[in-house]
Amino acid sequence: MLSERVSNIAPSATLEITAKAKMMRAKGIDVVGLGGGEPDFDTPKHIKKALIKALEEKFIYYTPSPGIPELREAIAEKLKKENGIDYSPDEIIVTPGAKQALFEAILALVNPKDEVLLPDPCWVSYEPMVQIAGGKAVFIPTYEEDEFALTPEEIEKKITKKTKALIINSPCNPTGAMLTKKDLKAIADICLEHGIYVISDEIYEKITYGEKHVSIASFPEMKNITITVNGFSKAYSMTGFRLGYAAAPKEIIDGMKKIHEHSVSCATSFVQKAGVAALKGSQEEVEFMVGEFKKRRDELIKMLREIPDVTCFEPKGTFYAFPNFSAYEKDSFKLANYLLEEAKVAVIPGKAFGACGEGFLRISYATSIEKIAEGMERIKKALKR
Ligand SMILES: Cc1ncc(COP(=O)(O)O)c(C=O)c1O
Repeated sequence: MLSERVSNIAPSATLEITAKAKMMRAKGIDVVGLGGGEPDFDTPKHIKKALIKALEEKFIYYTPSPGIPELREAIAEKLKKENGIDYSPDEIIVTPGAKQALFEAILALVNPKDEVLLPDPCWVSYEPMVQIAGGKAVFIPTYEEDEFALTPEEIEKKITKKTKALIINSPCNPTGAMLTKKDLKAIADICLEHGIYVISDEIYEKITYGEKHVSIASFPEMKNITITVNGFSKAYSMTGFRLGYAAAPKEIIDGMKKIHEHSVSCATSFVQKAGVAALKGSQEEVEFMVGEFKKRRDELIKMLREIPDVTCFEPKGTFYAFPNFSAYEKDSFKLANYLLEEAKVAVIPGKAFGACGEGFLRISYATSIEKIAEGMERIKKALKR
């Protein structure tokens, strides 16, 4: 009955754990959730106000498909000022979430049997998106001992005549690793040499704890072969608003626009107004949230490293830690299930993000320090049993 396209997509590997945690909560069991992928903060007030104002002013109709000019201009300004990339508003498309921008970029670039390079471990949706486009995902391993750096050497090993694009995600979900300027330059040189497009998912760009994020499209000539993707979900705590964007050479944006026009039409009108307020308004709350995430990260890493035989790379960005629990259990799905059942703590098995994630757990610190401490205490106790 179902199309081959859909039948071949594996169900979300994280779904089982999150669905089970939900069921347990529904039964009244006190589950500590350290699995979530969204900030727990409220959306800054001025952003909500802009949305309400837009609604009250009846800004409720379809907008131009690639987004309202005011928002595309604000995004172009942001990309120039913060990222050092010169995009004109017609090289920008506004989408319902960065996810849709990534999907449209992949659909616009990838032909059946084209290969798309992905870091391993990586975010769970890249591979299914490539598969839906008819392409083949090719994984580039990254390792704890290299601080999960995506190395130019490993990338080169996987390039074939069919390689069409590389997806990078810095800071990275699930590891929290960031690509250095030097690594990015080396990756840019490889992609320019081989004519490989780069889809740069920069959704966590503002959530960093030391080095500032660098956009690969800011290197000379890279703008021509890069699709820069970003959004409002993580930086402004706007996950439910569904607002993101892509910036790329006009030909690529025009290709994406065709998919956009015939699928989503446009991002929600009044949400786009909230996006303008987010970009143009005060960034103080973003700084506050990042400061809070840093405190939580430091606490969580300290607690993780106190557990005998657990190692944990210090995440440079995002709100995830990716500790290695393989000394206790090599099968991360088994361990995540055990921790849910025994400790009543929900975490995501590392293998859900790729083979190189086996033996690891993704622990989110997008929750209060108290909950993190409670969760870690429970995990420690359960591991002693
Ligand atoms: C790496 C990565 N890219 C993209 C997204 C999608 O973000 P959005 O809410 O803007 O669709 C997420 C959300 O979890 C993510 O972790």
